[in-house]
Amino acid sequence: MINSTQDIISEADFRVISDMVYRHCGINLHDGKQELVQARIAKRLRSGGFATLQDYLDHIEADTGGQEFTALIDAMSTNLTSFFREIGHFDYLRQRFLPDWMAHKNKLNNPSLRVWSAGCSTGEEPYSLAMTLLEQVHSQHWDIKILATDISTRVLHTAKSGLYSYDRVDGVPEPYRSRYFVPCGHSREQSFHVVPEARLLVSFRYLNLMNDWPFTGPFDFIFCRNVMIYFDKPTQQRLVNRFWDHLSDGGLLFTGHSESLTGLDHSFSYVQPTIYRKP
Ligand SMILES: C[S@@+](CC[C@H](N)C(=O)[O-])C[C@H]1O[C@@H](n2cnc3c(N)ncnc32)[C@H](O)[C@@H]1O
Repeated sequence: MINSTQDIISEADFRVISDMVYRHCGINLHDGKQELVQARIAKRLRSGGFATLQDYLDHIEADTGGQEFTALIDAMSTNLTSFFREIGHFDYLRQRFLPDWMAHKNKLNNPSLRVWSAGCSTGEEPYSLAMTLLEQVHSQHWDIKILATDISTRVLHTAKSGLYSYDRVDGVPEPYRSRYFVPCGHSREQSFHVVPEARLLVSFRYLNLMNDWPFTGPFDFIFCRNVMIYFDKPTQQRLVNRFWDHLSDGGLLFTGHSESLTGLDHSFSYVQPTIYRKP
């Protein structure tokens, strides 16, 4: 049984693991990540009771759809998120995009909004979108659906629960905080539930962005924020092409604060940093 977190991964092992992760989910574990991989793999070996790294690799190679592979991907990916993260995107939707877009859809006699949060982590992003849309839509006749997907079953489990600790909800701006969260539990253990009205708009699904997408859209806008940063350029290129195919004309693609489409071949028009429109 392996007890030490040190030196269990040779250079060659690191390549085997990073190739496997890359092939399966596009995450690019470049050389700078070797220490992180080392520490996280050691943890997986201990918790899974694997005697050697080779046993572990044999196990997951034989079962890349299985639980341990999912746990490995979980261990290699970062799930950092928060409610109304990069708030400028939500301001842009509220102030600039939605008023005109909704008027346009009304004119088409199509009062519906289809939104995709791709790489939704623990759910704060799609719920923030649900709250933003509920504030904007004052009539029952709007049909709103937010698809929220991730490769990690662990984060999806939290997301579906709609339950968040005090510190996750503390920074949520008003009026969202008082309108869309209800306290449950007591005193220091207090946590908050997202209200059913917002939860009902969001469907959480497991989806590996590298695989087939079992839906056609088109979406009015797509949030894929702080996900592409883990992928290399060819993978980003493929993904951006596929997002294009799944957007309505006039629809928007939002990326994370340190991501851009610069260097990729695409026909999106630039709206402002990290916001792109399909003309
Ligand atoms: C840093 S979080 C971003 C969460 C949210 N979009 C935000 O910006 O706050 C990145 C998420 O992408 C997910 N992810 C990574 N590779 C993926 C893939 N190939 N398919 C689907 N989701 C993936 C991870 O599981 C993680 O939850």
